[in-house]
Formats: sequence, C-alpha cells, structure tokens
Amino acid sequence: MGDKIKRIGVLTSGGDAPGMNAAVRAVVRTAIGHGVECIGIRRGWSGLITSDFVRLDSSSVSHIINRGGTILYTARSKEFMDAAGREKAIGTCKLLGLDGIVAIGGDGTFRGALALSRQIAESGHKLDVVGIPATIDNDIGCSYYTIGFDTACNTAIECIDKLRDTMQSHERCSVVEVMGRHAGYLALYVGTAVGATAVLIPERPVDFERDVVEKLRRARLAGTTHYMVVVAEGAGSAFEIAERIHEEIGIDPRVTVPGHIQRGGSPSARDRETASRMGYMAVNTLLEGKGNRIIAVRKGHLSDLDMEEALTMTKDFDMSLYAVLEAVTNGGAMNF
Ligand code: F6P
Repeated sequence: MGDKIKRIGVLTSGGDAPGMNAAVRAVVRTAIGHGVECIGIRRGWSGLITSDFVRLDSSSVSHIINRGGTILYTARSKEFMDAAGREKAIGTCKLLGLDGIVAIGGDGTFRGALALSRQIAESGHKLDVVGIPATIDNDIGCSYYTIGFDTACNTAIECIDKLRDTMQSHERCSVVEVMGRHAGYLALYVGTAVGATAVLIPERPVDFERDVVEKLRRARLAGTTHYMVVVAEGAGSAFEIAERIHEEIGIDPRVTVPGHIQRGGSPSARDRETASRMGYMAVNTLLEGKGNRIIAVRKGHLSDLDMEEALTMTKDFDMSLYAVLEAVTNGGAMNF
C-alpha cells in the first residue's frame, strides 16, 4: 500500500461550505503520515489550468479545522469544461508529477474530475481522482450527507430564532428565504427545527392557497399572531411570496434573506467529524490504488463509490420530515 503514490493534489471547487478546511487538513495530514507529498491547488480547477499551487505541510493546515470558507480559495471554472482547458490542467498535473487529486466540492466538481481523469488516460498517463462531497445544499445524489449542511442549518436557525423574537413582539409574519437553488433540504430541516408555519421547497410543487394561505389562516384561528414562512431559493422569491400574502390576506410580511451568511461560519461538530473522516478515507482510497471514486455516506457509513456510477445516482427526497412538520407544527397548536 502506498508505494506508487508519491504526490497528490487537493483542491476545493464550486460554492464553499463550512468544513472544507477540515477536509483539506485531514487530506494533508493523512497523506503526510504516509510519506506522500501534498500540493494545494488554489481556486479549484482553474488553479490547475493556471498552475496556481502551494506546497502544504502539516503546519500549513494548523488552526484551520475551526474555520469556515476554504484556505485554498474556490471558483467555478468555465474553461475547465472544455477539453482545451483541461489540456492545460493536464500540463500542470504532469509538471507537478501528481499521481492523484482529492477534489472537494459538489456534482460539478466531480464531473470535472472524471473528465480530467479520462482525458489524461487518453494521453497514456494515469491520474486517480477522489471526490469529497461538500455543499450546504446536501444535494449530491450518491451521498446522504454533504459537508457544510449541518453548519448552514444551524446558522439559518440562529437567524430565524432572532427573527422570531421581533416577529412575536410586533405580531408579524416573516418570510425567510434560505439557500437551495435546486434542493429543499436546508429549507425543510430549518423549517422543522424552527417550527415554521409554512415551508416551501422545490421538490413539492407549490399550491399557494393550500401551502401558504390556508396555513396562515389555520394558525390565526388557533390563536397565533406571528407566523414564519420558510422558502427555499428554488421554490420562489421571498419578496414575491410576501407580496402575494399581502394581496390575499392583508398581512404585511417582513422579508429576510440570510443569503451567503449561510455559507460561512465555524463548522459544527458534525461537519468537522465528517470532513475528517472523509479526508482520511479519500487519501487511503488513493493509497489503495483506487481512482475515480467518491466518498459517500451510505446507510450511515462511509463508502467509496465508483465516480461515474455515483454521478448517475439520485436520492429520494425524504418527505417523511415534511409529514413530521405538518403533524408537529400545523397539526398542533400552530404556535411555533
Ligand atoms: O450550491 C450552494 C449554493 O449556496 C446554492 O444554494 C446557491 O443557489 C448557490 O450556491 C449560490 O452560489 P453563488 O452565489 O456562489 O453563485
């Protein structure tokens, strides 16, 4: 084990997520522990195109486990989507003598990794890539958990708990838009955790009368005088929803969009632990000679999956939590 791999690259790509630094740290320390040199590629795949790299040793990843963001910076590279861009990246891989790359990010990051590995194979070289899922959206089909989700939930909950105080005092309605362009995991977890009056997610087509108006009405009838509507970015604009509430039932809601605040902050225990395990496993997967793998949470455990197959996987949106929200909040006294 480990006799072939001498030097690996590590990068973070796509939207950042709290816990990425913890994953970088785990990759670097595990690699160094096996006598493998570790090179940080800055700014995601674009750093591989422009040869933007930094040598990482054990001390370069000290004191980062608690920090949000990513010390390696991140970017979304259009150039890397083309074979010509990837050819430049291959040049960097050859120049640096990389035997493997650990790519930390989302679906787009992994698609890039697979394309790179295939293209380099065509030129007669071998580069093993391993992906670590990290996105606050938790929307990677092959993995039941992605680094950053827990921290983002806690950040949004903290914002909403503060809002609740003032909404209660003024007997108002809040419409809060949380991130999730294509996924409602964040909205549903957060909505359930704050006892939202209504939660709108892209996975469930919105019927405004049923999902918003009727819920607010029932809450009012149950004696509530303040309301919290949580909407996932991909399910509609909070401003439009607020306007419609005003038109239909005369309430004058206040809109809050925590936005990118949800992407920052010190990672939670769950994100630090998951990132540490995934980083450790990613390096060991490379050391075992396995390439084109994604480290994924399956049935509560980590496994390494074939990257190509993993990218075709979808996970069913777990509507059971929606049922819980309905029963506990809307079926109950409605006071969140
Ligand atoms: O993928 C994570 C995410 O936060 C999405 O929920 C959001 O739509 C998107 O990133 C926004 O990304 P950016 O502002 O960096 O383009």
